[in-house]
Amino acid sequence: MAFSDLIPASSDWIPISVFPVMQKIVARVSNRVFVGLPMCRHEGFLNLSIMHTMAVVRTRKLLSWFPEPLKPMVGFFVNESRRGVRLGKTFLGPTIQERLDKMREFGDDWLSKPDDMLQWTIDLATSKGKSIDSIVQYILLINFAAIHTSSNTFTHALYHLAANPEYIQPLREEVDAVIKEEGWTKAAMQKLRKLDSFMRESQRMNGISGVSLMRKALKDVTMSDGSFIPAGTMIVAPAVATHMDDENYTNPEVFDPWRFSNMRDGDGEGTKHQFVSTSVDYITFGHGKHACPGRFFAANELKAMLAHTVMNYDVKFEKESVRPPNLWFAITVSPDPRAKVLFRKRQD
Ligand code: HEM
Repeated sequence: MAFSDLIPASSDWIPISVFPVMQKIVARVSNRVFVGLPMCRHEGFLNLSIMHTMAVVRTRKLLSWFPEPLKPMVGFFVNESRRGVRLGKTFLGPTIQERLDKMREFGDDWLSKPDDMLQWTIDLATSKGKSIDSIVQYILLINFAAIHTSSNTFTHALYHLAANPEYIQPLREEVDAVIKEEGWTKAAMQKLRKLDSFMRESQRMNGISGVSLMRKALKDVTMSDGSFIPAGTMIVAPAVATHMDDENYTNPEVFDPWRFSNMRDGDGEGTKHQFVSTSVDYITFGHGKHACPGRFFAANELKAMLAHTVMNYDVKFEKESVRPPNLWFAITVSPDPRAKVLFRKRQD
């Protein structure tokens, strides 16, 4: 529904500003799972889920200009993100309150208790004695982690597809065969190997940041090679350098959509090189103890979205088949937010 509302399937080519449209689609699709119907289609709540991230980032930036002792005081007066929580409460508050009332009334005997993410969040918060405000804050926090990362990642992949429309047909054939067998299920997403490889390759070349695994040393650390890292030092791993290193990838500067599905065909390699697999050579989702826990959800969501796109639309760039260059802001990389992709209803 999100796609058909925002990208009409017309027999004429229609230019779409992919970046803002994908933010809206991802916000809606993600919140179908995070908060469910009807809130996942509520214009005001969706705008908040997209904009709250900016508010948090702006507030963090502002606070970083002040010395540590002044931060709580400045934070008290800068209430942009708290305003977001207040607004979020007007949208989510009534549903949360209704569920809290039922929990109080029925306790363990609430047989029709929902088994969804909003309820898991409420259960977690109440077990810690938290208020409705905290539940709203948790939901906004999940949106913070999910929306911009996922919409950037999808836009990057769509730009690759529009620049190389010849990849649409092989993807269609795969999706068609798998969906016929499995329907639109999680099991089907597992079997979409080419599509998985396409997403992983797009993320290898673009990612969301030039660095990954950002950590702060809380105490002095001496590494196994003798390097000394004093307490308080921020350290990162170089994502672009790792992903564009020809010791890690053959012809790393070439977008090879089937690179990883081919690698998975090797003996014993079937489960490695999936979109969600992290390693020292693939760190777009981080790696180790704090690797992105949302990546399994994101991969299913983004694969379903790309499968839906190739099954329902033809896409291409307006002029030439060249992907617009990414934009860099400090360590953050983003797909060109001004680029337009032409969409039309699938013709064959
Ligand atoms: C394509 C989409 C996504 C990308 C590229 C991405 C990327 C990342 C990266 C690079 C990290 C830091 C990992 C590290 O430092 O080792 C991270 C952490 C995290 N992500 Fe994601 N993420 C995505 C989607 C999501 C989604 C959908 C959710 C939630 C539903 C989520 C929740 C989180 C959380 C909670 C953390 C912090 C984990 C921790 O510190 O232990 N992410 N993500």
